[in-house]
Amino acid sequence: MTKRIETTLPIGAIAARTGLSVSAIRYYEELGLVTSERSPGGRRRFVRAAIRRLSFILIAQKLGLSLEEISEALSRLPDGRTPTAADWTKISTGIRTRINDQIAALERMRDRLDGCIGCGCLSLEACGLYNPADERGGEGAGPRLVLG
Ligand code: FES
Repeated sequence: MTKRIETTLPIGAIAARTGLSVSAIRYYEELGLVTSERSPGGRRRFVRAAIRRLSFILIAQKLGLSLEEISEALSRLPDGRTPTAADWTKISTGIRTRINDQIAALERMRDRLDGCIGCGCLSLEACGLYNPADERGGEGAGPRLVLG
């Protein structure tokens, strides 16, 4: 028997599927990041496509995007219809750049963890080679060889 797919879902089902709390979903709705309609009984019902918007918010926040940045990205999705893959591609460019930057930073961290990280401690033999006299300090605070 084919499982019946609901086209609209109550907030509890959306919360269960996205992993977000009901209060978080209500908050995103207050911010206008997602919308719902009311059932005859006055309860919120979300179109199924809202799961993708909320999942986008979740991913973007894990990447460190602010709610303002997320709101700006989502505002480029079309109103009044379910976004297509092409629509999502359009708004994902910034996210993709952010992901690539984070991948590069993680690779730098992975590759440098047991060597000089350019933090200014000058405690490793390698520091003399990679950060003589803490010249990296001139680039700013923190482990410059990892932060880039
Ligand atoms: S590890 Fe700290 S300056 Fe090299």
